[in-house]
Amino acid sequence: MYTLGIETSCDETSSAIIRNRKVYSCIVSSSLSLHKKFGGIVPEIASRAQLELIYPVTWKALKEAGITLKEVKLLAVTSSPGLVGSLLVGLAFSQSLAYFKNLPLLEINHLHSHLFAPFLNRSLPGFPFLGLVVSGGHTELYSVRDFDNTQLIGKTRDDACGEALDKVGRFYGLGYPAGPEIDRIFNLDLVDSTLFNIKDKEGFDFSFSGIKTRAIYLSLDLKKKKKLTRFDRIKILSSFQFGIVNYLIKKLTKALNHFKIKKVVCGGGVSANSFLRRRLKELEKKGIKVYLPEKRYCADNAASVAGLGEYIYKKKKKSELRK
Ligand code: KG4
Ligand code: ZN
Repeated sequence: MYTLGIETSCDETSSAIIRNRKVYSCIVSSSLSLHKKFGGIVPEIASRAQLELIYPVTWKALKEAGITLKEVKLLAVTSSPGLVGSLLVGLAFSQSLAYFKNLPLLEINHLHSHLFAPFLNRSLPGFPFLGLVVSGGHTELYSVRDFDNTQLIGKTRDDACGEALDKVGRFYGLGYPAGPEIDRIFNLDLVDSTLFNIKDKEGFDFSFSGIKTRAIYLSLDLKKKKKLTRFDRIKILSSFQFGIVNYLIKKLTKALNHFKIKKVVCGGGVSANSFLRRRLKELEKKGIKVYLPEKRYCADNAASVAGLGEYIYKKKKKSELRK
């Protein structure tokens, strides 16, 4: 049974074909280049691009998977959270397909789909696990009893961690999105761990606006004394990324101990970060099982949406059969 996934929650237009979690195709077309000069995503531009892209991207996904629409038995689409205009494009497109082809359609939560990404092309985890979603719009911690039974235990009270990286990086001249660029220039040898040491005050909630402001004032203060060099930038941004990753690991460790859970799943754009991945993998030395997506499935993509849709659909079918 092939599942077609559709994802249009932000700047990406993505369609994917999967079967039994195996990815047969996953096409992602981003309108990022159109937004760069504005320093962030412009919702109107994103949804206009998606309107044009959704059909060719879906057609390409079918072609690359070597199947026709007739062989698709299930549709799954991101329904929230995301940019309203963008979500609407994916929803309207998949609802029309579902209607005309008489196919079941599942609406999928964008953040939960990030937590499914590590299980594409791989076997499923046991439950429960702690799910950490780190992206440009969200930083959320879940206790997951099943993929359709999640409890939110912590979220950011201000900026998301990806948003903090993007805003600070942009301020230091790295352009948008700055997260991947900070990852690229990160140098552990230059880190000053005292610069961005976030106090852990908010229970399981997160807060990044304090160190974001600190990073900005640090640059303004330095600029009063001298011209900021490339070395200064790398040192400050490496320390900034170090501070964010340390804080995420601290919160996660606190939650693992509190809930007595021994498994972690991390997903979302920032889960592509090399230093975060390394620090998460280090938890395995303490007996914690860590699941991370392949790098190509960290950011928004339709394969994760299709995967979660297929999982939920099969689970429902099984429970109906038992009745
Ligand atoms: O999940 P995602 O693709 O979109 C949202 O749902 O927001 O995440 C995008 C975020 C951006 O903030 C981007 O800077 C960040 O993921 N990101 C990274 C890396 N790759 C993407 N942050 C740090 N290191 C990376 N390698
Ligand atoms: Zn996302």
